[in-house]
Amino acid sequence: MAMMFESGLSLFTMLILSTFLFLQVTVNALKEIANQLRKKDWDFSLNPCDGNTNWTTPLGNHPPPQFNNVVNCNCSLDDVCHVVNISLKGQDLAGVLPPSLAKLPSIKMIDLSFNYLNGNIPEEWESTKLEFISVTGNRLSGSIPTFLGNITTLKSLGLENNIFSGKVPAELGNLKSLSLL
Ligand SMILES: *[C@@H]1O[C@H](CO)[C@@H](O)[C@H](O)[C@H]1NC(C)=O
Ligand SMILES: *[C@@H]1O[C@H](CO)[C@@H](O)[C@H](O)[C@H]1NC(C)=O
Ligand SMILES: *[C@@H]1O[C@H](CO)[C@@H](O)[C@H](O)[C@H]1NC(C)=O
Ligand SMILES: *[C@@H]1O[C@H](CO)[C@@H](O)[C@H](O)[C@H]1NC(C)=O
Repeated sequence: MAMMFESGLSLFTMLILSTFLFLQVTVNALKEIANQLRKKDWDFSLNPCDGNTNWTTPLGNHPPPQFNNVVNCNCSLDDVCHVVNISLKGQDLAGVLPPSLAKLPSIKMIDLSFNYLNGNIPEEWESTKLEFISVTGNRLSGSIPTFLGNITTLKSLGLENNIFSGKVPAELGNLKSLSLL
């Protein structure tokens, strides 16, 4: 019986199962991110990666640079969809920068400009391969963390219009591909 079951569990079934588990892990990370940001209008009954307008809202009447509500996935990576971009601009979010962003293994871009987020940049982000970070126009405070210098993939970092204290740390000089600060 056990052998029949094993051989019956085809590669195809296993692929479906691992894709399903991966999606669950992604959705759980997104739920944590929503709690940390205090974002209340993501509909978790919808697939964040199928292009529906709840997760990726057309700009409509909102004037472009100030508002954005976008989650982009790259589904060509290894047969499963990975969240690569999150842009939630001008949404009156009043939580903190989400430590759980680091639970999305392929995240490249986070734009949380023009909200009311407080605290500082979470240490968890050090382990990501982020290329683009903008947290412009929030209520972030404390000194700009030196571990940012360890996110070697970073190309663009937007920190202006917050209440950070002190200087830009020398460690950011380590970032060879950083072109915008
Ligand atoms: C997404 O769906 C939720 C629940 O249905 C709704 O409250 C929210 O307004 C929707 N958000 C957008 C941006 O469409
Ligand atoms: C998705 O990932 C693949 C593999 O890394 C890459 O070649 C492709 O450009 C990515 N697509 C987008 C739209 O970012
Ligand atoms: C993520 O955003 C970048 C910059 O806007 C864009 O070039 C890229 O195509 C986006 N990735 C996906 C998968 O949509
Ligand atoms: C950057 O990474 C190195 C090597 O892992 C570590 O020793 C160092 O403490 C990190 N820097 C910061 C500021 O976290």
